[in-house]
Amino acid sequence: MPTAPLNYEPMVFAPRTGEAAPLSAIQEEILALKKERNAVILAHNYQIEAIQRVADYVGDSLGLAYRAEEADCDAIVFCGVHFMAETAKIINPQTPVYLPDLEAGCSLSDSCPAEKLAAYKEAHPDTYVVAYINCSAAVKALSDVICTSGNATKIVERIPADREILFVPDQNLGQWVSKEIGRTMQLWPGSCYAHVLFTQQAIERLKLKFPDAKVVAHPECIETVRDNADVVCSTEKMVHYCRDDAANQFIVITETGMIHRLQSEIPDKTFIAGPTDTCACNECRYMKMNTIEKLRDCLRDQGPAIEMPENVRQKAYAPIKRMLEWSK
Ligand code: 13P
Ligand code: SF4
Repeated sequence: MPTAPLNYEPMVFAPRTGEAAPLSAIQEEILALKKERNAVILAHNYQIEAIQRVADYVGDSLGLAYRAEEADCDAIVFCGVHFMAETAKIINPQTPVYLPDLEAGCSLSDSCPAEKLAAYKEAHPDTYVVAYINCSAAVKALSDVICTSGNATKIVERIPADREILFVPDQNLGQWVSKEIGRTMQLWPGSCYAHVLFTQQAIERLKLKFPDAKVVAHPECIETVRDNADVVCSTEKMVHYCRDDAANQFIVITETGMIHRLQSEIPDKTFIAGPTDTCACNECRYMKMNTIEKLRDCLRDQGPAIEMPENVRQKAYAPIKRMLEWSK
């Protein structure tokens, strides 16, 4: 039982009452520009609330990939991180894809450079490579199939039992999948710098204050955190779980932006931000590079745009297409 008290106030989001605040002038400007450009705004669940409110679709990596595939518009503005916008471009090459800040990267993607994966494949030519979608187009191009946190177990289960699997780049998601379906895999030593900051100790301290709260955790968290959660799932599945479960309070062990989505879908329940040992919340510095001003500028200036060599795009598309088919 933990003895040390919390050294910060928990971040608690109480049920929402009353009307939503009116949109700001810049949000109205974005909606007008979106119409003028015939653009679609896709936003990840971790984006700030001001962006989520003007998006056409807010969701997880898998939902966003399907929306990018079906988008019939003159431009996609992707409010997420670079690998997500790149995936949209790979799937929907004829449509310009803009990212409000091209520097919005991902520590998981950075942990698996394509040259290192190519060297591994040369040394292990029979390995089947499963790549978590949080990787570059060059890494996708070297992979056999892509997965997201929403379909990872389903995808790995489709791979013939006699094949040796290398799972890149997230060792935590890979370890979770391995345990869930009882399949041994080689795990690339990458991790999400933000999700590994959640600790079981910090969650236990919070549970002393909120004993009735259910704990929902993302599979990018470390094993002790995952093992003690009530459910481990993708950000989209968190919405379904919190809506359907009888509990009224949830401790949300993922990036704090998720709570805006949860509150807008389930306004009558209480959400508590997942804590680290030193902070009541946990934001991804890359996701938070997108601001409402950069989104407006991006629509106005029609850029910055995602570009990649066509040969890389084609090679990266094959394993994504496999994933989209396998996960239907
Ligand atoms: P989801 O696909 O579950 O939203 O996860 C994306 C991500 O980057 C988690 O850190
Ligand atoms: Fe990447 Fe982690 Fe940020 Fe998700 S939360 S985009 S995995 S750095």
